[in-house]
Amino acid sequence: MVELTLPKNSVVGKGKHFPAPEGAKKVKTFRVYRYDPETGQNPRWDTYDVAVDQCGPMVLDAIIHIKNTMDPSLTFRRSCREGVCGSCAMNIGGRNTLACTHAWEDTPGAVVQISPLPHQPVIKDLVPDLTQFFAQYAEIEPWLHTDTPAPEKEWKQSIEDRSKLDGLYECILCACCSTSCPSYWWNSEKFMGPAALLHAYRWLIDSRDEATGERLDALEDPFKLYRCHTIMNCAQVCPKGLNPAKAIAEIKKMMAERLI
Ligand code: SF4
Ligand code: SF4
Ligand code: FES
Repeated sequence: MVELTLPKNSVVGKGKHFPAPEGAKKVKTFRVYRYDPETGQNPRWDTYDVAVDQCGPMVLDAIIHIKNTMDPSLTFRRSCREGVCGSCAMNIGGRNTLACTHAWEDTPGAVVQISPLPHQPVIKDLVPDLTQFFAQYAEIEPWLHTDTPAPEKEWKQSIEDRSKLDGLYECILCACCSTSCPSYWWNSEKFMGPAALLHAYRWLIDSRDEATGERLDALEDPFKLYRCHTIMNCAQVCPKGLNPAKAIAEIKKMMAERLI
């Protein structure tokens, strides 16, 4: 049997334990991935016994509480606190999701384990480096391409054409889908990943866009589109309930139809 071992500097060690304050009435333990490349030390798991009766119901409330009252060095991203900015995406209890809309009580088991979005370089603690993810989003040119002179007021669409964008425009670019996709883990430099492809389809299907052929040409590649093997992790984890796998299947259909 093949035995796989991690390089020494990737082994996650046991970290510090932060006990709950005396007299805490309701305590929940959070096990949090910690990594600071500037120290030259391996990553570690720190555990925090949080007095959850003193914080709000969401995982983000708990980690803000940890930062404010137990350990100011804990680093994470967040902004809106209501599931619209996508910045608090992380892996909670083994599943990518948004910390601000995921209740700590809904995480199975006695301990809530939190790590950064998987298979991305880590900048610090729970902050992944999403440079490549956003470069792929930029690569699909997410804006209207048209030679038609701009109207005085607005680009109009029929109700039916507008409804084709439903299930696509709601994407908040949190990266939960792409970083849960095994094809993206293995080929993230060449496969565009579900989020960028969902956006590619959003522009392909837009009745006002006139660059459908060029957009399809740009995806005609053995890796960019076709590395999706319909594993469906993307649709399972999307915190906005979107289905990138379906959008990818629609692009493949458009590719096939233009060959007929
Ligand atoms: S359906 Fe495609 S994009 Fe979605 S997780 Fe599976 S392989 Fe990745
Ligand atoms: S499709 Fe869903 S999971 Fe993927 S980036 Fe958009 S909102 Fe996040
Ligand atoms: S903080 Fe904006 S989505 Fe969670």
